[in-house]
Amino acid sequence: MRPKRFIFLAGAFLFMISLPAHSQERQRINFDADWRFHLGPVPGSEVDKGYLIPKWNCLYLGKEKPADETPAGFGNNPVSEWKDAENGQDMFNNQPGWAWFLSNLPNIPGPHRALWFQAIDDNGTIFLNGQKLLYHQGWNDSFEVNLDKAWKEGGPNQLAILVENTYGAGYIKETYLSTVGREEKIPPVAQDGFNDGAWRSLHLPHDFIVEGTFDPKGDGSHGFLPKNIGWYRKTFDIPASAKGKSLWMDFDGVYRDSRVWLNGKSLGHHLSGYTGFRYDITDAVNYGGKNILTVYADATGSEGWWYEGGGIYRHVWLTIADPLHVAPWGTYAVATPKGTGADLVLETTVTNQTGAPASFNLVSEVRDAKGKKVLSLSTLCKLAKDSQKAFTQKGRVAKAVLWSLENPHLYTWTVRILKGKQALDQVDTNFGVRSFHFDANKGFFLNGKTIKIQGTCNHQDFAGVGVALSDRLFTYRLEKLKEMGCNAYRCSHNPPAPELLDECDRLGIMVMDENRRLGDSDEVLSQVESMVLRDRNHPSILWWSLCNEEPLQGTPEGKKRGTAMKKVILGLDKTRVITCAMNYGWGPGGLSDIVDAQGFNYAIDQYEPYRAAHPKTPLYGSETASTVSTRGIYESDRKLGYVSAYDVNHTEWAYTAEAAWRPLAERPWMAGGFVWTGFDYRGEPTPYSWPCVNSHFGILDMCGFPKDNFYYYQAWWSGKPVLHLFPHWNWQGKDSRPIPVWVHTNYDLVELFLNGKSLGKQETPKNGHLEWQVWYEPGTLTAKAYNKGVYVTETSVETTSTPASIRLKPYVTELKADGEDTTPIAVEILDEKGRLVRVADNEVTFSVTGAGHIAGVANGDPSSHEPDKGDKRKAFNGLCMVLVQSEDGKPGEINLTAQAPGLKSCALKLTSVKP
Ligand code: GAL
Repeated sequence: MRPKRFIFLAGAFLFMISLPAHSQERQRINFDADWRFHLGPVPGSEVDKGYLIPKWNCLYLGKEKPADETPAGFGNNPVSEWKDAENGQDMFNNQPGWAWFLSNLPNIPGPHRALWFQAIDDNGTIFLNGQKLLYHQGWNDSFEVNLDKAWKEGGPNQLAILVENTYGAGYIKETYLSTVGREEKIPPVAQDGFNDGAWRSLHLPHDFIVEGTFDPKGDGSHGFLPKNIGWYRKTFDIPASAKGKSLWMDFDGVYRDSRVWLNGKSLGHHLSGYTGFRYDITDAVNYGGKNILTVYADATGSEGWWYEGGGIYRHVWLTIADPLHVAPWGTYAVATPKGTGADLVLETTVTNQTGAPASFNLVSEVRDAKGKKVLSLSTLCKLAKDSQKAFTQKGRVAKAVLWSLENPHLYTWTVRILKGKQALDQVDTNFGVRSFHFDANKGFFLNGKTIKIQGTCNHQDFAGVGVALSDRLFTYRLEKLKEMGCNAYRCSHNPPAPELLDECDRLGIMVMDENRRLGDSDEVLSQVESMVLRDRNHPSILWWSLCNEEPLQGTPEGKKRGTAMKKVILGLDKTRVITCAMNYGWGPGGLSDIVDAQGFNYAIDQYEPYRAAHPKTPLYGSETASTVSTRGIYESDRKLGYVSAYDVNHTEWAYTAEAAWRPLAERPWMAGGFVWTGFDYRGEPTPYSWPCVNSHFGILDMCGFPKDNFYYYQAWWSGKPVLHLFPHWNWQGKDSRPIPVWVHTNYDLVELFLNGKSLGKQETPKNGHLEWQVWYEPGTLTAKAYNKGVYVTETSVETTSTPASIRLKPYVTELKADGEDTTPIAVEILDEKGRLVRVADNEVTFSVTGAGHIAGVANGDPSSHEPDKGDKRKAFNGLCMVLVQSEDGKPGEINLTAQAPGLKSCALKLTSVKP
């Protein structure tokens, strides 16, 4: 659904929302402006999470798995062996093993009770009164368990948890018993009288973790930044004329474990930091007056092993609609190409909150990308009061333009609810017409044409802004991938921001949308449901991934959970391939039994044997490579945390780019794969730990500056002619041994020259690279390329002199004046001849005047501990980046200046225009 942006009159911190005269029209109002923020706890405003289990009774069982994994198994143990365990206390002495944790739960009023765990380290099977409720495999993440089915009214209620510790310390962290839907204590911060005047004001999207200071004692997998909680408040006005409408608020993503209050009333609690959620606020709103929205985000827990950020990091929307309206995420278009046209099934879910039965006309119109109407449908509908129902309309587009990678043609379906001639509601949905399938022998097909999946896996964070990406940064990143020849994007390991999917639709990039965890708990299944409901109209999405590398992947229990997830998906969408990313346990008995295509994370040696044993199963590399390299570095240095950018380094479970791509390229039955990763990301600083705070897996660095492997992939993926010569040629003092000189190219033959002297010709191996050993002498290294014996082109690297000036290269020069739009600006250090000095590390200071501000700074150095939020940054191998953001409602000129001692400074003018 395409959002409509409305301009509103922003008072100091009071949003004024004005309804249009013909107020039948639905309004979807962006709610990102004018928030107040406070980092950390607010004294006196502790969140009421319920009854805290003060401590546990613990029985350590030893290192072996117990014969009896039910509570019956501990019945005979002498009481003397039970010990008290504090919350978070290691009961395993840092060793793997098993233990029971017990607690007698107090009687709390119903009707529904649940337990909320901060974390169990590692795995826990939870029993209430001897009945198994859940087996949770942990990454130290928080989760909820509903107790209703085993709860005894009046008690006693005995909670027993069998904990398996696989590594390091083992414990249960703070656990709360609470009543679902109970009247909780409202923290003062969520009430009207609270004074947030001293809080910082900001515009979403926002990530409060990226603002922290790196700490070597911090959680390295999350990038060594301190974890915290955050509070947000927003005051806004709702006009009296909105009374009688239906109002709801959408949060596209809050990391994580969020709670929301409106006017001192709790709206709800949402655990996942990756799924969108919404609250109906019709009854909580103060019509014709001031409203106070309070949001709490607890980013102290984690859901993954990479940088995850914290706070309201995706958009927030308020929708005001007629009480008879299209339900949120309530449109679903299925377009099946047939002959020269396409058969359409358009399903619209309508909600009736009018308090009376309704009859109406459902009118659908489909327009092509040029706006030409290609289909109109109209259906008379009836809907009982207080109900919701899906209405299906069928039609045909006689001549359909297909959605393809070269021409990602989008249709727009507009559905209206008409009462007589009056439109009560209207929703626009983009969709595409395309067919696709896997063939076990020939790979993957889009619109009947074989396409090798040339994909990358990506986490969501970016230089300078953490996980809080403004929309344009998605476009910037995707365009870089597309330029490389990447045609597919795996959203590892969670559903992405909706805007990323819009851009993949528009740019023609295929998507694997991925659910975070394997499970059949209500929580996990609701995450699957929200991913599919939100995303199922995107033509770019061709694959749903259930999960990634789950320990249960190859087991019957994993299969049982996967089956429950698959059922949820198929109930909502039967048109995609269902798969998952597996790193062991392939074959009968586990998740392999239920997927449509078998993914392999790494394990190239398994491709052939698996194919031999399962000739009818389509295969692809769900995760490949994990090559490690640092941009512009040609000698690894463990102390500094740098890995050479020649394609020679990988983790023990992985491969170089070339070793990973060849086996896919050379086997027609391997449908292709997804390289880990397109971009470097914060956290998981493999292969080293501190001082590295970022990963080295990216083909591009955190800023989107290409590493040399970018050109390897571009040569073999993009179909464009490529000639890339490296390393740099500033090796003063390094003349005691030859320097490897590499060329990534798809020309037939290359001849290398140093200062005009030929160093020999080499033929380019398919899917390979060229390599010379060259004794250093300053000057010019040139690669001349030939096709079929004929000279075509050449490229050179030159020894530069010292840094002399700065050049600024903006991604775009015009921003929207919405307080959100951001452009990355590459900062280059040049010598006096204007050549990039690829070893320069000058510190550049930025200043911005006019209608913008600095949103962040970065340089792609995985070991840089400089703050992302600041006005200066050292160049890393000749480059750094400043991100400039517009001001809300303030169009005009933005003037950026970049200065460094001893260098000629550079000025750049951008403009910010009314959106
Ligand atoms: C995979 C995993 C990714 C990442 C990668 C690093 O096994 O799925 O999330 O950790 O390894 O090589």
